[in-house]
Amino acid sequence: MGKIFVTRCIPSVGIERLASQHDVEVWQEQDPPPRELLLEKVRGCSGVLSMLSDKIDGSVMDSAGSHLRGIANFAVGYNNIDLQAAKQRGIQVGNTPGVLTNATADIAVGLILAAGRCFGPAIANVQRFEWRNWEPLMFLGQEFEGKTLGIVGMGRIGYAVAKRMHGGWGMRIVYTARDPKPQAESSFQAIRLELDALLAQSDVVSLHCPLTDQTRNLIGAREFGLMKPNAVLVNTARGEVVDQAALADALSQRRIFAAGLDVTTPEPIDRTDRLRSEANCLILPHIGSATEDARNQMAMMAANNLIAAIEGKLMPFGLTK
Ligand code: DGY
Repeated sequence: MGKIFVTRCIPSVGIERLASQHDVEVWQEQDPPPRELLLEKVRGCSGVLSMLSDKIDGSVMDSAGSHLRGIANFAVGYNNIDLQAAKQRGIQVGNTPGVLTNATADIAVGLILAAGRCFGPAIANVQRFEWRNWEPLMFLGQEFEGKTLGIVGMGRIGYAVAKRMHGGWGMRIVYTARDPKPQAESSFQAIRLELDALLAQSDVVSLHCPLTDQTRNLIGAREFGLMKPNAVLVNTARGEVVDQAALADALSQRRIFAAGLDVTTPEPIDRTDRLRSEANCLILPHIGSATEDARNQMAMMAANNLIAAIEGKLMPFGLTK
């Protein structure tokens, strides 16, 4: 029986699975464990089940000590984990791909519609008792039928968004990816472009790339300058992919129409961030994978990843071998 630290309350199916074989401690607070406590709690653990908001680096691994066999991230992303440090120490790292694809794609579609049709200012208008009449010129938004959707990063989630918007709204799909995506090209006649061309052609730009040194601040002032004035930017990837100050400028100067963000830098977004007061910027608190189905499956996958690693087997959804 190994010791496992779970850094937040997750669906009980995952905890029950782990507790059937191991000694499990779950951090019960709503906020992540402060760094010092994280270092203390992992001591002697064979497995750590972590969230995106927990920075898992070499010092966390060293603090856990020589028993540590696996780190299971409760997310498909893993930019919070130092994979190199884990590899050097022979620790497996796993994630939860696939099961949150539909949930996250649905949130991206929701943001496209909500930001493009001014839900944010329209809802605020009703809540502030400012709705007086039916207005011919109030909250005029964008239509999407037959327009162009630019998918930046045609992975699983990008593909699922393209499928929804091509099938439902007949959108023309353009995309960026390191390699051509034959399935997207045959299913939706998607066209692979360089980023600049995609930005210039797209009425909606939806970000689905992982956060890496290459994608940090990928969309900044220069890129906003290339976009159409009617463009809607949606980010369900990582906040750091967008230069937020440049986005605030682009929105306030009406260089693009609107933005819908499920992710920001930092999370939660600063109280003083200009994006909070931009009427045409809709911000969600990173709920891309927040459905019961997705979160239950993520909990089981993360638990199975840890159980395998502790038994000396390869994680079923491992990132390091
Ligand atoms: C992930 O799993 O990486 C998502 O961002 C969580 O919603």
